Order: sequence, then C-alpha cells, then structure tokens
Amino acid sequence: MMPWLWVLIGLVLLAAVLYWQLVIAEGSYLGPRVVALLYDWAAPAYERIKGFNTETEQWFLGLPLAMALERIPAPFVLDVGTGTGRLPRALLFQPGFRGHVVGVDRSRRMLAQAAQLVCPQAHRITLIWQDARTLPFPDNTFDAVTALEMLEFTPDPRAVLSEMVRVLRPGGVLLVTNRVGREALLLPGRAFPRPKFITLLSELPLEHIQTQYWQVDYDLVWARKKGRPVGGGVRPLAEVLRCPDCGQTGMEKVPQAYRCTRCGRVCLVAPDGVVEMQK
Ligand SMILES: C[S@@+](CC[C@H](N)C(=O)[O-])C[C@H]1O[C@@H](n2cnc3c(N)ncnc32)[C@H](O)[C@@H]1O
Repeated sequence: MMPWLWVLIGLVLLAAVLYWQLVIAEGSYLGPRVVALLYDWAAPAYERIKGFNTETEQWFLGLPLAMALERIPAPFVLDVGTGTGRLPRALLFQPGFRGHVVGVDRSRRMLAQAAQLVCPQAHRITLIWQDARTLPFPDNTFDAVTALEMLEFTPDPRAVLSEMVRVLRPGGVLLVTNRVGREALLLPGRAFPRPKFITLLSELPLEHIQTQYWQVDYDLVWARKKGRPVGGGVRPLAEVLRCPDCGQTGMEKVPQAYRCTRCGRVCLVAPDGVVEMQK
C-alpha cells in the first residue's frame, strides 16, 4: 500500500479516537481533571448547547421530585454534578417546594454559571466546588440525592452511587440518570444496560427502584433508601460540612469561609457564593 494511505488511515483513526474520548466520553477515561477541564471550557456555552426548556424541566423533573418530597416541610436536597444548576432551578421554582438545595460539581466554571442562573433563589441554594467521589457530608444527611447526566463521566459510577446513597437518609429519594441509546455502547464501565443498572442499584441499600424512559440518551431512575425514615429537613451547612482534609463533621462559619476547628483547613466562600473545597 502507498505510504500516504497509511498516514491517512492513521489520521482517521486518531480523529475517531479523539472524538470518542473527548466528545462522546467527555474525557471520562482520561480522568476527572480532564472532565473538569472540558466542562470549564464548555461552561459559558453549556445552556445554549443543551437548549433546556423551562416548562419541560419543571414538569418532568421539578414537579415529580417536589411531589416525592411533599411530606417533608423543608426538604434538604443534594444535586451531584449540578453543572449550571439545572435540577436546583427546576425544583426551587416549584411553588410547593420550601427546602434548600446543595449543588456539588468538579467544574468551577460550571458552578459560576449556576451561581448566575440561580441568582433570584440564591438564599435557597449552596454551590460547592468538590469532586463527587468524596461527598463532604456525614451519613444520612439529605432527603433527596440526585445526579443527572453525570455518573457516566466519573471513573467509577458504582463508587459515586454508593457515596450518594451513604449521604441519603433512610426513606430518602434517589434520582439518577442512566445513559442509554447507541452512544452508551461506547462507554463501557460508565453506562450500563437497563437490567445491569437495576442490579447495580439493588446491591445498595435501596428499594422501590423504578426506571422511567426520559430522553433518547437517558433514563431517569428513582429509588428510596432502605430503613425506617428518621428526621428530615434542612440543616445548617456549617453543621453538616465535612472537612476535606481531616474528615471532621461540622465546620465553623467565619467571614467568607468555613474553617475546620480540628485541623484548621479553610474553605473559602468565593464572591459568587461558591464554597471552594476542591484544591
Ligand atoms: C452533562 S453535565 C450535567 C450537569 C447537570 N446535572 C445537568 O443535567 O445539566 C455533567 C456534570 O458533571 C460534572 N462532573 C463530572 N465528573 C464529576 C465529578 N467527578 N465530580 C463532580 N462533578 C463531576 C461535570 O463537571 C458537569 O458539570
């Protein structure tokens, strides 16, 4: 074969691998730093690219979640991989929802966008810059824990799910997406066939697991954490923040920061309100 043909084949293969790794897998096989870097880069355009429709988001996400939490007067909700605050916005604008949402994300610029977009409801949301693999909260803290379109971009979705269930209180609601469709086949170990995803959730202390067809690329999956429901409701952030260095639960609120009283670690609250735990 002609040498230039080999070069051409090589270039096509390289382009295909790059497209797979950077566009379809969004850097997920290259590590969380690369994923965050890509999202930092895409953050200003994210909302435009996704083209979310406010009514659809409220009808299919905000309303059912608010209804699932209606027995709790002021639910405490954690949204993992919150991005530009899609789920918090859909929930906070529900008239029946009187709780507080904590949004965690590894991309600082996605959180900066979220901070702008949730501005009218800023007192009811806390944004935290932190990797989802270690959620900085004690066990059994939140009434609902959610993660939309993010699990497949983490190195170990099983471990992130297990961490999410750890911080969910017994009886609380888990709402996650599972990637389906053709592209899911290109995400081995990150996206799971429907029966396998259910099995994976069944291995955690979860019950009432239900799959709901949602979008071409995603199912919504609902579940409840096993155990007798106890407590519930919003808790002060200083009381539930876990120090990322020494693991002590509870951090002191000082001006523009949270400080660990055991190891002295300071996590700044940036001017846009984001709590910066990630180093
Ligand atoms: C496709 S976006 C989804 C954002 C939002 N949940 C939504 O539905 O619009 C994926 C988000 O997950 C975040 N993410 C990916 N890996 C993460 C990790 N290990 N820890 C925290 N956030 C992560 C990305 O930074 C990004 O904001």
